[in-house]
Amino acid sequence: MDYQLILNEIKEEVSLLENEGLVANYIPELTNVDPGKLGMHLHSVDNKGYSFGDAEEKFSIQSISKVFSLILAYKVLDKDIWKRVDVEPSGDPFNSLTLLEYENGIPRNPFINSGAIVVADILMSHYQNPKEALLNFVRKISGNPSIDYNEKVALSEKSHGYRNAALANLMKSFGNIQNEVNDILDFYFYQCSLEMSCKDLSKAFLIFANKGRLVETEEVFIESRQAKRVNAIMQTCGFYDESGEFAFRVGLPGKSGVGGGIVAVHPGQYSVAVWSPRLNEKGNSYMGMEVLERLTTKTGYSIF
Ligand code: DON
Repeated sequence: MDYQLILNEIKEEVSLLENEGLVANYIPELTNVDPGKLGMHLHSVDNKGYSFGDAEEKFSIQSISKVFSLILAYKVLDKDIWKRVDVEPSGDPFNSLTLLEYENGIPRNPFINSGAIVVADILMSHYQNPKEALLNFVRKISGNPSIDYNEKVALSEKSHGYRNAALANLMKSFGNIQNEVNDILDFYFYQCSLEMSCKDLSKAFLIFANKGRLVETEEVFIESRQAKRVNAIMQTCGFYDESGEFAFRVGLPGKSGVGGGIVAVHPGQYSVAVWSPRLNEKGNSYMGMEVLERLTTKTGYSIF
């Protein structure tokens, strides 16, 4: 498969499209991004990379970080993690409070904000320095030691994080949060402020295309059965109330973030990341969806 040729064609096609999305503004610091940025990087399991545009520029990965924190927590608790957070799509926006009260403080899945806050709580209980543990893990699986948090973005979200504070407090009232709410939120906001490029992200997500192992060394990061389950959750819950639409249009497990990034995985083949900061009304990158739909159409392969 000539992936570079396909990426070049996609670049040409989407340059003619009008981008109908808007940059996220509920985290003030995110509005400082150039809305015209567009990058894509695909990394195959035979360890070859293909790119176009701003593929090596770092951006705020936001909710994509929820996959990294989930893997770490899954390694810590294994299947006991599912006592604290469920694996069902919510059909609701990522920051919704609605179901949480009906369902006794157990979030529907680890990718909505409430679920990721529970995962952050699990990591805080296990690690003395969870920020450092998460950062080291992400640097290792992406092979880039320069990856870091953006403190300005973390503090910007912290000063406006009323909904996440409400979610954490509600779950604490049900006994599903063990640490202090302010401490968990601090860790959660830092986690979301991680900055990575499309290249970093697609390299990091290769473990999901390669049964939990690094492609360079075959070092096992998560068990194959765990990689399978995280892929399943990405497929069913990775795009909140647009997860069905993403499965329908693209047909790959994936995860989005309000910084405009989307990562998707084709198990056994590749992982791919796209960045374009303007979001659709569900909080997912408008152009990212267009690009990835074209990728699976042009290659003729998805998981379906
Ligand atoms: O908690 C929040 O609202 C953000 N830090 C992350 C949300 C997000 O990225 C949703 N993704 N599409």
